[in-house]
Amino acid sequence: MIDYSKYDTTPAVPEASSMIETFRAIGYSIEAAVADIIDNSISAGAKNIWVSFDWLGSQTWLSVKDDGCGMNNNELVQAMRPGSKNPLDDRSIKDLGRFGLGLKTASFSQCRKLSVISKKDNFKAVYWTWDLDFVNETGKWELIRYLPENKFGTEIDKLNSGTIVIWNDIDRLVKNFHSEDKKALEKFLLIMEQVKKHLAMVFHRFLENGKVKIYLQDRLVEAWNPFLIHESATQGFPDEPLQNGKVTVKGYVLPHRSKISEEKYKNAEGPKGWNEQQGFYIYRNERLLLAGDWLGLFRKEEHYKLARIQVDIPNSLDAEWQIDIKKSVARPPLVLRDQLKAYAGQIRNQAVEVYRHKGKSVRPLPGQKFVPLWIDHKRGDKWFYKINRENPIIEKIKKQASSDPDKAVELLIRFIEETIPTKSIYIKEASEEDALGKPFEGVDQEPIRKAMKQMYDKLIGEGKSDEKAKSIIFNIEPFNLFPHFFDFIT
Ligand SMILES: Nc1ncnc2c1ncn2[C@@H]1O[C@H](COP(=O)(O)OP(=O)(O)O)[C@@H](O)[C@H]1O
Ligand SMILES: [Mg+2]
Repeated sequence: MIDYSKYDTTPAVPEASSMIETFRAIGYSIEAAVADIIDNSISAGAKNIWVSFDWLGSQTWLSVKDDGCGMNNNELVQAMRPGSKNPLDDRSIKDLGRFGLGLKTASFSQCRKLSVISKKDNFKAVYWTWDLDFVNETGKWELIRYLPENKFGTEIDKLNSGTIVIWNDIDRLVKNFHSEDKKALEKFLLIMEQVKKHLAMVFHRFLENGKVKIYLQDRLVEAWNPFLIHESATQGFPDEPLQNGKVTVKGYVLPHRSKISEEKYKNAEGPKGWNEQQGFYIYRNERLLLAGDWLGLFRKEEHYKLARIQVDIPNSLDAEWQIDIKKSVARPPLVLRDQLKAYAGQIRNQAVEVYRHKGKSVRPLPGQKFVPLWIDHKRGDKWFYKINRENPIIEKIKKQASSDPDKAVELLIRFIEETIPTKSIYIKEASEEDALGKPFEGVDQEPIRKAMKQMYDKLIGEGKSDEKAKSIIFNIEPFNLFPHFFDFIT
């Protein structure tokens, strides 16, 4: 231990204007920033949360109002302080915060003026504003008692308790926008639509269990559940407790697109689309942090897109899971990675099955065995495909061959051409490199050599030179893959 009393000290206070500008660079998206503000409302026990905006071009403001417990003057000033709580402190199990920064960093990532007006039950409403221009000018960590519009005062007085967070001068979103510019408005509305989708997803469990209602411009936001739990064709897997039961995983394989309506399928794709939304969904205290991410354990592939896995962690594991300020990163502890990988492996396998088969054929009738035409099988570590000799079509063609061989061969070729299992081949090739075998790899290659030899003898018989005969053969697939036989056929 250092004996601090032995040493001189000097203050090294953060420089206000540069520090506060640095907060702007944490890299929140608008939707993540709004979600972080809503986290505070939920932690404050809000039942209703209203996200509102007023389109005024570059003067557009956005507010988040809640009917939570609110704050008195001291509490509000404390809340406005960067680092208002120690990240190492224990938090109530319902608290969605961590670093004591979200309100400030999320707001400054979007705007230059953050005003908060708040009212605690039996208190008068209080308000304070962080104005980055003022901080820049004075170089001081000082709030101003400023409210951009009086109407927020009237609004808060209608609540017993609650808080309104107001963003003004939203330069990251509407800088240089003119209020009459239709295109700019369209762009802005599109972004708000994205925000809505994000909130519907991130807070879906709160919205579903009725604990919280979120409104965007007074329209109720409806929950978006990633797992389609109400669809009968969805396969839910048993949940598995990890990390001494503190973490729970539960996998789902979503229905094949042929099993649900077009509209439901479209809705299920979520904010980022079917392919992007596959993977783990990590919830911290029921709030979604990460939506569709294989955590570096697998790659996202089209044929795994029906796999989505719910992972629940408590906020007491924040440090171990490396939750970041934006609450958009989570990394499982090393000890868990193998377990998550094993669990996810099962879900992914089933997801591929559903993706491959269910859309192609009707379900086999009960009591009737399904007869494939193609069978995939492994020789060594490579995949091959063979035609099922017992398929009735093959048996029929065989019979036909004695009376009309030409027609039988043509029919056989047609069936092969039309039914090549391209999807299955593609999946194998995409899942592991070099998964597919080459012709006659790992088996007796005599039939190839024999065919080459017969052709060679025929060409020589027709008067071709050795060189000419070989060059003809070399240009015929698949003989070109077997140049080493050239030495043996002469
Ligand atoms: N809407 C709100 N209602 C009541 N209290 C709030 C609200 N927003 C913020 N606070 C208070 O301000 C504190 C700081 O918020 P924030 O900067 O987001 O950090 P954190 O959420 O990590 O604590 C919160 O812990 C809470 O005490
Ligand atoms: Mg917070």
